[in-house]
Amino acid sequence: MKQNWWHRSVVYQIYPRSFYDTNGDGIGDLRGIIKKLDYLSLLGIDVIWLSPVYKSPNDDNGYDISDYRDIMDEFGTMQDMDELLAEAGRKGIRILMDLVVNHTSDEHAWFVEARQSKNSRYRDYYIWRDPVDGGEPNDLRSTFSGSAWQFDPQTGQYYLHLFSRKQPDLNWENPNVRREIWEMMNFWIDKGIGGFRMDVVELLGKDPDKKIKENGPKLHEYLKEMNRRTFGGKDLLTVGECWCAGIPEAAEYSNPDGSELSMIFQFEHIGLDQQPGKEKWDLKPLELDDLKRVMTKWQTELEGKGWNSLFWNNHDLPRIVSRFGDDGRYRTESAKMLATLLHGMKGTPYIYQGEEIGMTNIRMGSIKDYRDIETLNMYRERLGQGYDPKEIMRSIYAKGRDNARTPMQWDDTEYAGFTTGTPWIAVNPNYQTINAARALEDPDSIFFHYQKLIRLRKENDCMVYGSYRLLESDPDVYAYTRTYGDSHLAVICNFYGRTVDAAVKGLEGETLRILLSNYEQSPADTAHMTLRPYEAVLYEY
Ligand code: GLC
Ligand code: CA
Repeated sequence: MKQNWWHRSVVYQIYPRSFYDTNGDGIGDLRGIIKKLDYLSLLGIDVIWLSPVYKSPNDDNGYDISDYRDIMDEFGTMQDMDELLAEAGRKGIRILMDLVVNHTSDEHAWFVEARQSKNSRYRDYYIWRDPVDGGEPNDLRSTFSGSAWQFDPQTGQYYLHLFSRKQPDLNWENPNVRREIWEMMNFWIDKGIGGFRMDVVELLGKDPDKKIKENGPKLHEYLKEMNRRTFGGKDLLTVGECWCAGIPEAAEYSNPDGSELSMIFQFEHIGLDQQPGKEKWDLKPLELDDLKRVMTKWQTELEGKGWNSLFWNNHDLPRIVSRFGDDGRYRTESAKMLATLLHGMKGTPYIYQGEEIGMTNIRMGSIKDYRDIETLNMYRERLGQGYDPKEIMRSIYAKGRDNARTPMQWDDTEYAGFTTGTPWIAVNPNYQTINAARALEDPDSIFFHYQKLIRLRKENDCMVYGSYRLLESDPDVYAYTRTYGDSHLAVICNFYGRTVDAAVKGLEGETLRILLSNYEQSPADTAHMTLRPYEAVLYEY
């Protein structure tokens, strides 16, 4: 497989609204990111994925774009954006723009025109259908609850919105839509960005009349066309967000021949703590065996055929230390264990802001404190369906997107040093103990554990290209090896808070040298390997 710079890179995702506020309006901004570039350089990341910063009425915090060639007022100006690109570039950091082109805002000029009349030249930029028996064209549902169809009285038709009513879906079958998007992408490529993170890319080939959303018949044709007309051959990083991809789809998206995207960002491991066939709110404890099975499938079956992302977190997911670790007594140990387990694998790692200091979920007192449209719509819908409000809140505490969106905790001053004003969303009350300033003072902090993992990836070909094998072990332990020619790595993790005998098979007779661990003295003899709570060791042999 041809080697690419992004095989060895680590991506850091910034959710600008909650990162750092420089003008006291309580909202993070572009100048705030510029101010914190040194912090990111110290961590050692190569790439920033910037959640959307384009002009937006913020129905879905920027994932509803009203102008793709302008910057959201609260975030700053295009001049700030150009400065951010230049400053990051000087530090060797590339910037991925979030490409949200399944839908626009209903306040985008195209939609404002389109809804005026059936004869508008922009009408076909969106997906309109006549009523059926006086109601919705069919029973397609929105990801944010309720019907995916909204009646528009002005012209007497429904438009499709797979997300909120203020996010009408673009009609990708229209070649003019595609042409405008290619031009917009080239506008950003010409500015010197590092690539694109493609929002819900799997929906682009949808066929709403057949009720096909993901993986529609024309999806890969459109992606190949996009590739040819925009980033193809330009050595950019492109990553597609896919909730419904298996190995064959992933191999097509991330074909090493370069005809589509660099890599896929898929969520199979993220769905393991929900009841099968139900929604993410329908909770179920994670079984480590399921996690092993799914991670191992992606590690082995995509080998040589494509490229995967490695992540636990993003702006849509709860904090991993609260989810699969222990955000109480063993917060530090479990955060480092989860980092080691993931970063030891093959793929491009993604770190979501605050993960590197072990930020946790939040429990806000009242539903009124929540800001996320998905959470608020679900609350209303489930209340109407007769759910107990306490049960709904339990789901929100476990899975709500605002868990990831509380302000970045910079220090122990008011509002965690995020703003001098009033933050747009509550700060996690644990900021006095969990914050970046404190992490930087402690050489054993989670931050420096991530720094070491990133550095190892830079130096170690086996960590980047080695092939993966799951090892037999105690059921509470996750152990695997990586092999690249004569070099070998082994990662052995106690996934729980009980001391266990690791009982790892397959390393007998090997001399293990510790590269990294989360306890002072970790065992180096597999015959007698007792692992303390959440103990994780990365060896070479
Ligand atoms: C993606 C984004 C999410 C957004 C949705 C609609 O899943 O990650 O935040 O709400 O698409 O754009
Ligand atoms: Ca601000």
